[in-house]
Amino acid sequence: MKKPLLTTCAVSLFLSAAFVHVNAQTTKVFEVDAAHIKAHVQPTMYGIFFEDINMAADGGVYAELVKNRSFEFGTALAAWTEHAKDGGAGSLEVIDRTGERPENPHFLTIKNNSNTGYYGLSNEGFRGMGIKKGETYSFSVMARQHAGSTLKLSVELTDPQGKVIGTAILNPIGTTWKPYSVKFIANATVDKASLTVWTKDAGSIDLDMISLFPQNTWKSRPGGLRADLVQKLYDMHPGFLRFPGGCIVEGRDLANRYQWKKTIGNIDKRENIINRWNVEFKHRPTPDYYQTFGLGFMEYFQLAEDIGASPLPILNCGMACQFNTGQLVPLDQLDPYVQDALDLIEFANGSKATKWGKLRTQLGHPAPFNLKMMGVGNEQWGEQYIERWKIFVKAIKDKYPYMKLVTSVGPDPDGGKFNLLNTTFRGLNADFLDEHYYRAPKWFLDNVKRYDSYDRSGPKIFAGEYAAQSKAIASPDNKNDWNCAMSEAAFMTGLERNADVVNMASYAPLFAHVDAWQWTPDLIWFDNLRSYGTPNYYVQQLYSLNKGTDVVPVTLNNETVTGQDGLFASSVLDKNLGSVIIKIINTGSQAQSADVVVKRIKGLSPNAKVTTLQSSDLTAVNSLDDPRKVSPKISGVALSGSTVKLSLKPYSFTVIRIATTK
Ligand code: AHR
Repeated sequence: MKKPLLTTCAVSLFLSAAFVHVNAQTTKVFEVDAAHIKAHVQPTMYGIFFEDINMAADGGVYAELVKNRSFEFGTALAAWTEHAKDGGAGSLEVIDRTGERPENPHFLTIKNNSNTGYYGLSNEGFRGMGIKKGETYSFSVMARQHAGSTLKLSVELTDPQGKVIGTAILNPIGTTWKPYSVKFIANATVDKASLTVWTKDAGSIDLDMISLFPQNTWKSRPGGLRADLVQKLYDMHPGFLRFPGGCIVEGRDLANRYQWKKTIGNIDKRENIINRWNVEFKHRPTPDYYQTFGLGFMEYFQLAEDIGASPLPILNCGMACQFNTGQLVPLDQLDPYVQDALDLIEFANGSKATKWGKLRTQLGHPAPFNLKMMGVGNEQWGEQYIERWKIFVKAIKDKYPYMKLVTSVGPDPDGGKFNLLNTTFRGLNADFLDEHYYRAPKWFLDNVKRYDSYDRSGPKIFAGEYAAQSKAIASPDNKNDWNCAMSEAAFMTGLERNADVVNMASYAPLFAHVDAWQWTPDLIWFDNLRSYGTPNYYVQQLYSLNKGTDVVPVTLNNETVTGQDGLFASSVLDKNLGSVIIKIINTGSQAQSADVVVKRIKGLSPNAKVTTLQSSDLTAVNSLDDPRKVSPKISGVALSGSTVKLSLKPYSFTVIRIATTK
């Protein structure tokens, strides 16, 4: 009797194993109805959030190599070290002329007391200076000699061992401030070089705005942006560029807020302030983090234009960061803040007959920047925000009815703060609600249907800041791993399916210096010479390059694909190019056999382009040394009639693109 029983168990185990096996191999049939347009995809749909956090601007995309170039840091000689050689001697003094130049109060006096040897100072750069062999560098300085002094300046770039890798000489003349510059070529590639300015023989000289830029900047603009980093932004084909943040808009207190008018015109007239992220995290102190605003509002508008993105500035609404001091401007004193917003619109769009349009013209851009959107406050909440918002919106809409305004619904995608603002601003007919979600990867999977039930006639959604957090929000242990990126890709099918409601979305933050970051995860990481896109970057890029123009349904067993067997999907038409695009995310550990059947469209090309972003290791990350470990791979697949037969790899994001003859 025992034997048959054992045999029955064995058979049943075998059958159940076989069933699981067959189930995993069951071909999933995705049906795309290409004739059923469900929503229009806005050209702005996938964009960029920029904030000067993690040394994104100074020390990052702003290509200046000298840190504390105008001696405005809290410790005036921060980043500078005194040097003497061959018997040289002297002193360095930082002079304060606040009364005369409040926006740039400090300058340096070098007193060389010796007729032998050399005396001067060196700058450490932003965690070193990235220098490339054979490239041209431009050294510049404001200088004036003291009476009777004829000090020459000799400039040396050195590697960490002290070997000179580039030199130049300048001869400042006269006792009035004048700009001087000289170009030279570096003879070695070094990621942590430093710059020394020497004087020889006795004399005294005043120096300010000591600067070193690569000539090879984005579009070769003097004093411009780091070309490799801007290229990465350009390669995303972003729909918009949000700027300047982020909490930096608000400041830790109101004095520390972002003021756009102080960021345009001559760079030596742009008042430097401490960067709010300098002291934000005890676990990541960055005492050498200031804002020079070399990347200011003119450069911002120019950058947006260069990369084909609509500008989306976010302005302070009379509130400092509510995570910090939460200082408030009294309602009856809001006028200057409101005026800043109105003037920014005139600066961007006004003709040269207007005050601010004239200034833009004088700064080299007669054509308007076509500003259509603006944010009122960053991540504000509470009644205080609602009161201030109403004043801003009335003033802006009265003068510029065409402006679409972005409204905060607080730092969380749910809870009390969110509910109050969401209900209130829906009642007040806000244009865009700015939702933020820094959440666990699972939240992203669980929330793929978030927008399915949103009011189709209410405000549009701007998913203005989001990123999956592998550990916890603001944890220094968060990684840009494939699990996070894949969960974002799955969630984004929900954004895309609901493109009639969700009009804009951006990952945040954007940039991080590997030696100077405060916040992780981030989209693009860099050191002084190199940069890489994270798996999350490639997710954003694939969505942006394949955003199409119109949403069409893709179903599995007649249902929207929102996680069945770990699968997520969305599809669009690109009417401009005549293509059908299907995005499928397989979040499961098993490959899935899939037939993608495209219905009700004529002239399908016999071949589909298939782009796959995949790793079988959910903890996989990209790095400076392995920048494309998780990156898109392209292949071609022949159609069988109107069906694309695929094996969806485990943990994969697949984009299928089929052209049509139309
Ligand atoms: O992206 C980092 C910060 O997160 C932003 O500055 C802020 O808006 C959010 O809290």
